Amino acid sequence: MADLLVIEGLSVAFGGVQALNRVSLSVHEGEILSIIGPNGAGKTSLFNSITGAYLPNQGRLLFRDKEITGRKPHEIARLGIARSFQNLKPFAEMTVRENVLIGLERRFSYGLLATILRSTRFRDEELNHRKSAGELLEFVGLGRRSRQLARNLTYGEQKMLEIARALALKPTLLLLDEPVAGMNPTETGFVMELVRKVRGEGITVVIIEHDMKMVMGISDRICVLDRGELIATGDPDEIRRNPRVIEAYLGGGATPNAEKQTPNPEP
Ligand SMILES: Nc1ncnc2c1ncn2[C@@H]1O[C@H](COP(=O)(O)OP(=O)(O)OP(=O)(O)O)[C@@H](O)[C@H]1O
Ligand SMILES: [Mg+2]
Repeated sequence: MADLLVIEGLSVAFGGVQALNRVSLSVHEGEILSIIGPNGAGKTSLFNSITGAYLPNQGRLLFRDKEITGRKPHEIARLGIARSFQNLKPFAEMTVRENVLIGLERRFSYGLLATILRSTRFRDEELNHRKSAGELLEFVGLGRRSRQLARNLTYGEQKMLEIARALALKPTLLLLDEPVAGMNPTETGFVMELVRKVRGEGITVVIIEHDMKMVMGISDRICVLDRGELIATGDPDEIRRNPRVIEAYLGGGATPNAEKQTPNPEP
């Protein structure tokens, strides 16, 4: 399979903390890849580096054979990489549909003048956006909630809204940071179903997740980080049996079969 994203020798440091230490891995086109590892292993830092939020002090990132290291987050988003956040960030006082519309408008971002003049083209696009927002919300199962204020959604629904907002960017690569953290098993099952549907649309998905039932059930491949280092890559069976992986989890007081861990708040 072709490589969609190649990460070469990536290091990220904060003062004395080495969040990532020469991490190399590739994401294959069309796969569902999970990144797992104990709390503080560097998983979110990896996403932050891919999306341009963190500047790596070593290494390179190549997306579709093009180097993206050091590019601005909005440039990287425009190239086709979208993410959801570990901590929820919807606009609470906007409706569900408006939250998605904002994502769509970011994608098309007209010149300011065009927006002010509300040109014909702008109005046409606006109608298209409303239609796309509706379709997207149906796609993630929030169709009937579109007129609600985002703050009135259940926690699980807000997580789905996060995914809808990321999908509004029409990404080639979707990065999900703990999409089922805090969800009940029914909601988790729904997200797993959704991730498969997203992949069915030709979108490559990378998931950071502590929920091993989801990880083992959905991943084509799994990468394991421990204290900033990539310690294993393989399919779910290989990872489950890998002695270094078992050690990393046991050393941290948890097992790779643990249902859930409490994530640290995102910095
Ligand atoms: N902006 C930052 N400033 C300082 N230290 C940071 C920053 N971001 C991450 N770190 C540190 O880097 C290390 C890796 O953090 P990261 O958030 O990437 O871990 P994680 O694997 O996502 O953990 P969790 O499972 O708890 O979400 C931690 O020691 C963290 O404190
Ligand atoms: Mg994290």
